[in-house]
Parts: sequence; C-alpha cells; structure tokens
Amino acid sequence: MSNAVPSHVPPELIRDFSVFSSPGMEPNLGGCPFKALMKLRDEPRIFYVPEPGRGRPGNWVVTSAADMRTVLQDPEVFSSKGIAGFSQLLGERWDLLPLEVDPPKHAKYRALLEPEMTVKKMNALVPAIEGFADALIAELKGRSGCEFVKSIAQRFPVMVFLKLLGLPDNQLELFADWAWGLLHGPSMAEQVAAAQAIKEHLVYAIRQETAQPVNNTLLSRIVHGEIDGAPLNDEEKLGYAFLVFLAGLDTVASSLSFYFRHLAEDQDFQARLRANPELIPTVIDELLRMYSVVTTSRLVTRDTELAGVALKAGDWVSLTLSLGNRDQQEHAAPDEVRLDRGNKPHFTFGAGKHRCMGSHLARVEMAIFMRKFLEAIPTFRLAPGTQPLVHGAGVFGVKELQLAWD
Ligand code: HEM
Repeated sequence: MSNAVPSHVPPELIRDFSVFSSPGMEPNLGGCPFKALMKLRDEPRIFYVPEPGRGRPGNWVVTSAADMRTVLQDPEVFSSKGIAGFSQLLGERWDLLPLEVDPPKHAKYRALLEPEMTVKKMNALVPAIEGFADALIAELKGRSGCEFVKSIAQRFPVMVFLKLLGLPDNQLELFADWAWGLLHGPSMAEQVAAAQAIKEHLVYAIRQETAQPVNNTLLSRIVHGEIDGAPLNDEEKLGYAFLVFLAGLDTVASSLSFYFRHLAEDQDFQARLRANPELIPTVIDELLRMYSVVTTSRLVTRDTELAGVALKAGDWVSLTLSLGNRDQQEHAAPDEVRLDRGNKPHFTFGAGKHRCMGSHLARVEMAIFMRKFLEAIPTFRLAPGTQPLVHGAGVFGVKELQLAWD
C-alpha cells in the first residue's frame, strides 16, 4: 500500500528519492551513494518523499548543514523516539538507549554509559585493538589480495565490540553475520530473524552477567547500573546492549571499507600516507567527513517551520548526514579529500545531545587498523577486472571490495 501525502505538503516539494534505492545506490550500477547524493544539490533545501522505501512512512529530507544542525540541536521539537524502530521489528516496544529517549530523561540514560566510554577507558583498549588488527592482517600473509569487506572490515569491529562488552571472542562470526543480516538482509524476514537472534543472544549474555558478574566491562555497567538509585529493568538492559551492538559494528565496517576503496583508487594518496603515517589521524577525520555513512531521522513533536516550510506534528524528518558534510556553504570543495581543513566540525557522529559516544573509539580503531595494514601490506589497488560493489541503506556500505597487491 502506498503512503498518502499529507495535505500540508506543497506538491512542488514532492520528490522521488530513497537512500535504499535511488540510482547509484544499488550494487552493480557502478555507482557510489555519495555521488548520487550530490545530485540533490539542485533540489530545494527541504523536500518531501512519500515512499522512502522499505515500508517506511513518508518523510522530509533535509539537505543543508544549517537545517541539519537546527534539527539535531532541538530535541524538543525533533524527537528521536522510535527512530530506529528495531524493537518494533520484533513486535515489541523497548527503546534503544540512550538514542531513542529525549531530554530530560536522555541525560540520565547517557550518564550511565559515560564512565565506560571515556577517552581513558578507550585508550586502555589500544593494545587489544592492535592485537585484533595484527591477527586479521596475519591471515593475509603470503597472499596477493583479499576481499576486504567480509574478511576484514566486518570482523574487526566485532572483535572490538566483544572485548568492550566483555563477551567471549568465539562469537565473532555469529555477530558479524547477524549485523549484516539485520541491516542489509535482502528481505524483511531475514532482518527480523537477525534481530531475534541478536536479542536472544544479548538477553543470554545479560543473564550470565547477572548470575556471574565480571568487573570492568561495559556489559557489567549495563547490567548492574542504576538510574536515580533504581536498577534497570530487563528491557532497559537490552536497549543499551542492542544499541552498542548496532552503533559500533556496521558503522565502522562500512566506513573502513569506503576508506580502503579510496586508498585503492588513489595511489598517490596511498603513497603519501605510507611515507607520512603521522598523517593517519588527520586522514581518518577527513575520510569520516567525506564518507559519512549514517542516515538518521527525527519525529516532529509540534507544528513548526524549517527552511520556510511548514512541518506538522507527526511528520518524519530524514537526515542523511553526508549531505551536511558535503554542503558547499560549509566546506570548500566538499567532494575533495583535503588535509588542511583544521578541526572544522562535521556531522558524521551526529550533533547535539545524541552525538556519538563511540567517536573516540571509532577513530582509534580505524587509525590503528590503517597504520597496521599499510605497514604490513605492499601498495594495493582494486583487483584487475573488479568493481567495488556499494549499497545504499540507513548505513551506506560496501558489499564487496577486491584488493590486490604484489
Ligand atoms: C564510524 C563509526 C561510527 C559512526 C559513523 C557513528 C555515528 C553515530 C551517529 C550519527 C550517532 C547519532 C545518531 C542520532 O543522533 O540519531 C551516534 C550515536 C551513538 N553512537 Fe556512534 N557511530 C560510530 C561508532 C560508534 C561506536 C564504535 C560506538 C560504541 C561502541 C558508538 C556508540 C554510540 C552511542 C552509544 C550513540 C548514542 C548516543 C546518544 O543517544 O546519546 N558509535 N553514532
């Protein structure tokens, strides 16, 4: 059944666009979701899409950095309640915490995680993360190429996630498959099955931690944490664990894959980085801006105006963060990788109260991996005769990336 267009939407602002299926978003079109987005520069600052895809309700699309900032920084008018909707997939109603909760409650939920996500705590993970990178790269020894996405990019952040949560490392392949199934499974049935499997496994891990507490892990903080002196209920514990799972796996896997595609396609850039590895943190930040993979959304809580257009309570606003990062009003030559942009903020980790809590960890993970890979593997390129397969979605990603080296 198609979605009706609400009567307050001006017909001249209706467009056909989907992060799931617009030209250039699908595999095998030889396209790139980021290039496809750039076509939106000729469109109005805000427009309405009746059929955003995957059975979702119609939504407004915000294309400018300024409007994106307004939306992300005003949670009273633009709520994050129900934005991910994973519990609804299972016919349930728990929130991903702290993401799907608005202020003032949000601050308390966020504060519970904060002691486990400090820069100091994340830096303490560095030796383990280096070990994970070494182990994955060791598998490439004696080879002259690899398919990067499945063999490396999807497994590396799962190793970090298992360590962060304090779960056994023999669950690597399981979690990697579930993460893929949930976010990129070809059918709704496959996504629901993955959501169910993840939930069951996290519930099991929560029970284990309740019965036999292990100190000093993020999971123990979630299981034994309190808000206003009261323990969390089962749904809250699951909401936290599920969000950490979602937040830190596909985002890192997809980002790394886009960065390695870039390095494979731009040999001069790769050579510069090999000669100057101290540039890696700056490069990571610029690649984060260039290849911003997340599309998030907000629910309008009361009638308002955005970019001169009337929005009604109950409308959805979609924020493809890459559009903000490539806004020409905000960044000079936004489609070019430039290492002299300074610390200009970008939207890759969101903005406002819900700004990503794992941004430091993500940067550290990806910088370690890039440095180790460049140290161990000779100059690499796209394997001859292959094309990277990219895809659109709520998290843009790379499906296949064949690399070759001598
Ligand atoms: C390149 C990797 C990553 C990207 C691009 C990314 C992006 C984002 C974005 C855009 C948001 C805000 C969403 C919104 O406002 O609707 C967010 C929130 C969040 N992220 Fe990340 N993320 C990444 C890695 C991680 C990692 C590794 C973790 C932790 C393990 C993490 C934990 C979180 C949490 C807990 C939130 C919710 C914060 C809140 O609601 O207050 N993220 N992330």
